[in-house]
Amino acid sequence: MRENSYAIQGGSFGDEGKGRVVDELCSRLIKNHDELIVYRWNGGANAGHTVIFDNKKIVLHQIPSGATIKGATAVLGKGMVLNPRDLVTELKLVKEVGNGELPAQIIIDEMAVLTLDTHRVFESVLKDWESGGAGSTGRGIAPAYSDVLLRHPIRIRDLTSRDWKEKLSKHYDLYKALVKGMGQDINKREIKRLEAENETLGSKKDFIDNLEKDRKTINEYVNDAIEIVKNHWEKDTPFVFEGAQGVGLDPRWGVYPDVTTSHPTFDGIKHSTSGVVDPKDIKIKAAVYKATYMSSVGTRDLPTKMDDELVEKIRKDAHEYGATTGRPRDIYHVDIPALKYFADVSGATHMVLTHLDIAYPDKPIKICTSYKNKGKKEFYYRPDQEYLNNVKPRYKKLDSWDGREVKGATKIQNLPKEATQYIYYMAYSLGLMPLMVTTGPERSAFIDLGL
Ligand code: IMP
Repeated sequence: MRENSYAIQGGSFGDEGKGRVVDELCSRLIKNHDELIVYRWNGGANAGHTVIFDNKKIVLHQIPSGATIKGATAVLGKGMVLNPRDLVTELKLVKEVGNGELPAQIIIDEMAVLTLDTHRVFESVLKDWESGGAGSTGRGIAPAYSDVLLRHPIRIRDLTSRDWKEKLSKHYDLYKALVKGMGQDINKREIKRLEAENETLGSKKDFIDNLEKDRKTINEYVNDAIEIVKNHWEKDTPFVFEGAQGVGLDPRWGVYPDVTTSHPTFDGIKHSTSGVVDPKDIKIKAAVYKATYMSSVGTRDLPTKMDDELVEKIRKDAHEYGATTGRPRDIYHVDIPALKYFADVSGATHMVLTHLDIAYPDKPIKICTSYKNKGKKEFYYRPDQEYLNNVKPRYKKLDSWDGREVKGATKIQNLPKEATQYIYYMAYSLGLMPLMVTTGPERSAFIDLGL
């Protein structure tokens, strides 16, 4: 087991509050070490991690949350798909909060794959054909990962190479033909960018001209990340691996068509680091969950959908709107069969519960402890929509507490008895060690349970 190594993954369907957890871990580790690596292993601008720096709140999409920690090195790994224009926007944002300087060193793996405006157009045209991915974030994630499987990815190092114009022109032509085949014109279709929604991609010349500016900005951060990671992994530099999305969005463990296309589980670390880091050597692998409910954006249909007035209350109190898309999130009762399955298949060792302050004294917490399937009690989840459509959740009601009493608590001794019992009930049900709990949106509102 490698000391001082942590990996944080979403335990359910993304948006569990991982950014905050990574930020907290990094802030602690850097106090006792001269160096720190924070490494993002999957996804792209589909993610949205809210972090607070110098009392300023920012949302990061591609850059790891630890990028606001002075002294850290933030690595954007090979397993990611990166959009150059969005990256330039984010770099500017982080520089702004850092008063003109990047607080952390940023390294972009030259092997990371590009997701370009061409992919975004293609994805949006595909949606019109009602193929899978109707609920996607529109950030061109699936087409970019498909490029890899189709054996023609464009990597960061293609963008920084001498013959980049040739490679990127060929790529544009391919996507123009694909889009034309679906009856659309590539340069007229609107796309989403972090900076501005609904711009058009434009002609091949516009495409190349835009990339020309962006590649110059990005170039200074591009490096052989594997070599850097290897050197630090062999020393005692602390590592925090940051995942995006969640196990329930993994194409192997989630439900089609509403899954993403990267590896959101700890497994993705091995691939992203080209085998340098095996997740079995990482000491703490923590899955993050919202304590009293689950949420999701997209079009999925899960057995424990909440249908009472609590939904609006939770949405309002916990601001349950997508950080990337602004869409209202669907709210679900905690589904233990699903979460236990996700914890098991991903090899999680610890749990972090966020939003412990979202609880109401007059509303017992309804937790699904098993399903009923064709009259039979069933403890297992399956990544199969037909199966999930046919099961009926069986609930247990647990005593709740007053979320206002929990807000901002920093010690477990100060929690109401019901909240403490709840934490240990979840740990027992999921078979995980409790690591930490968050008790409100402020940076200080968290309880250390064994860090
Ligand atoms: P994609 O990743 O944009 O292809 O979207 C695929 C599915 O994953 C859709 O249901 C999205 O809403 C969902 N998704 C992607 N990224 C996130 C995230 O960071 N949080 C929550 N849901 C996400």
